[in-house]
Amino acid sequence: MGTDRHFLENLLGRMTLEEKVGQLSLYSADVKLAGAETVNPALTFKAPQSRFEDIRAGRVTGVFNGYGEDYIRALQKIAVEDSRLGIPLIFGADVIHGFRTAFPVPLAEAASFEPELAERVAETAAAEAAAEGLHWTFAPGADLCRDARWGRAVESYGEDALVASQFAAARVRGFQGNDLRDPRRLMATVKHFAAYGAAEAGLDYNTAEISRTTLADHYLPPYRAAVEAGAGAVMTAFNDVDGVPASANRELLTGLLREQWGFEGFVVSDYNSDFETIVHGLAESPRDAARLCFLAGLDMCMQSGLYADQLAGLVADGAIEEAAVDRAVLRVLAAKQALGLFENPYRGLGAAFDPGPARALAREAARRCQVLLKNRDGVLPLKAGTRAALIGPFAREHQHLNGAWAIFAANGQSVNLEQGFRAAMGDQALIVEPGCGIAEALPGGLEAAVAAAAAADVVLLALGEGQHMSGESRSRTDIGLPSAQIELARAMQRTGKPIVTLLRTGRPLAIPELAELSDALLVTWFLGSETGAAVADVVLGRAAPSGRLPMSFPRHVGQAPIYYARKATGRPAREPPGPFTARYIDAEPGPLYPFGFGLGYGQVVYGPTQVSAPDLARSGAVTVSCDLTESAGVEVEEVVQLYVHDVAASRVRPVRELKAFRKVTVAAGARLVVTFELRGEELGFADGLGGWTVEPGAFEVWIAPNAEAGVPARFVLRAEEGA
Ligand code: GLC
Repeated sequence: MGTDRHFLENLLGRMTLEEKVGQLSLYSADVKLAGAETVNPALTFKAPQSRFEDIRAGRVTGVFNGYGEDYIRALQKIAVEDSRLGIPLIFGADVIHGFRTAFPVPLAEAASFEPELAERVAETAAAEAAAEGLHWTFAPGADLCRDARWGRAVESYGEDALVASQFAAARVRGFQGNDLRDPRRLMATVKHFAAYGAAEAGLDYNTAEISRTTLADHYLPPYRAAVEAGAGAVMTAFNDVDGVPASANRELLTGLLREQWGFEGFVVSDYNSDFETIVHGLAESPRDAARLCFLAGLDMCMQSGLYADQLAGLVADGAIEEAAVDRAVLRVLAAKQALGLFENPYRGLGAAFDPGPARALAREAARRCQVLLKNRDGVLPLKAGTRAALIGPFAREHQHLNGAWAIFAANGQSVNLEQGFRAAMGDQALIVEPGCGIAEALPGGLEAAVAAAAAADVVLLALGEGQHMSGESRSRTDIGLPSAQIELARAMQRTGKPIVTLLRTGRPLAIPELAELSDALLVTWFLGSETGAAVADVVLGRAAPSGRLPMSFPRHVGQAPIYYARKATGRPAREPPGPFTARYIDAEPGPLYPFGFGLGYGQVVYGPTQVSAPDLARSGAVTVSCDLTESAGVEVEEVVQLYVHDVAASRVRPVRELKAFRKVTVAAGARLVVTFELRGEELGFADGLGGWTVEPGAFEVWIAPNAEAGVPARFVLRAEEGA
């Protein structure tokens, strides 16, 4: 990040200790967030007027989740004109998947398996948010998620470290571009560091009870990828890692992030997470919490006011060196300077933004995230002239299109399912009935839905999660559908009409009965502003589904956490089932739909996986190839996946590990050879202490359409000469 160090050090030299502490204190916009007090009874909210006084006195470094000409200009004017040193505020926000234009949620975006799409989306979201005066987004979330019970699966890029790494890095590039002085860009924040998605039992905020090797091998790479892509900030997680809350975890914040990864930006706490080190049982008092967090490497305090209350006293008592405070302040000032805020504190505010191209991109992204899990007898795409009954609680509403963290979305301008299908099919061919509520029956709803189905050729069944059923503090013990929705689905099945289920969700759901009674099953996630248009595009065949599952869909919640990169165990489940093997007595083994799975409207046949040589050295590489043939006479976009398995290693390795993926287009009836280069160095694994271990021996390799398909080829990684 280009900074004029002399200017910053000169400014620092003129700052009082209180002003320095002010640069480390971030507060939410002056809106009372319902429920926050219940988290921390000691938490106090300041009235807006007193916040303005704080800004005037140089006690505030920035504000988050406020935006717009009036609000931003008013606060920034106080900071730059009325405060003693005129240091500009930084304005942050949760621009997680769009600003006013809502894009697909991160889990949906991962389903596209197109990181370059995520980069374009992030760039557009940044421009729209920057035009409302924002400088800084609290995204990307890079939390690996293997447990569908966790409410924030919706904000993750799923269960695989490579997919999550590529998407997190792509979004940093999209948000930041090459120069943060560009007024259409936002500084990115990689969060929640670290292992927030490893919450035990999928319970949000819960302890991350994982081994150091699992942490290093699977959970850390996405954060590192975002740091290496240049993220300007890192946000700490609420959870503890191995008993030490992330916000006070020196091994993570200093040992790993700064000393091993070379991160030079600043570290900000999550909302009160620094104060919560008391609640966790680490710190004995607010003073102790401030000391432990600061010495661990936490630069900036979000919302709790902990540093404002405690840091100056800790410096006065010699518990913290002022030089350490100076280093933290310089990191924050450097970020503000990289954003060009000293030259132009109103950077970007009021810039023109044309939502047209953003809506077009939202529709394109929404098309490419949808995952077709079933298509019995090719019921999709619907034939021209088909009469459809659009049935379900999500048929004609606007409230539940965007999913979690769409706090700025302009809902009224969104396209819901009814609007999307009417625009595409005309009024004559579409009948709409809610049939039931999201979680409750509707008086007469089933009867009206049955009558609508009787008058149609096909039922489009719009079921799934409401917007409030996933997101922060939205973990679930039951990841099925509410019974009212199941009853509606059964009533539709009894009509005998073909059923195309449109499944809205922020997580994998356990839906074996719904999958069985559906003729087609299309996962539509939360797709944002252009939901209806994009779903109609795919259902009617204007676009083909090309998404794949970024997380395994379990048969039953009791299988959670379930993920493809599992260990073999000494007694793996096998067919036919045998006693004393790793299987439940009351459920089939494995997921209902595996990681990487999804269908198109064409059919791709994979030939055998071939390897260019029987062995390779660590410093060498092999080419892995496979012939794809489209056999249905319909062009298809295929996400080709390269997996390896280290057959024997000093620590048992997953039965498969994704090493590369690529979305390719196979023309109707065509044959396409796909190749991947696989380097010896890539065949290693993290040893949990910051090292990378590459061990010789036999490997299996697949080029496959998902994590369970295909027959492996084998090769050997040779021992190093003289080893
Ligand atoms: C929330 C979330 C975090 C968000 C922050 C600010 O609690 O954990 O992802 O960026 O607070 O809203």
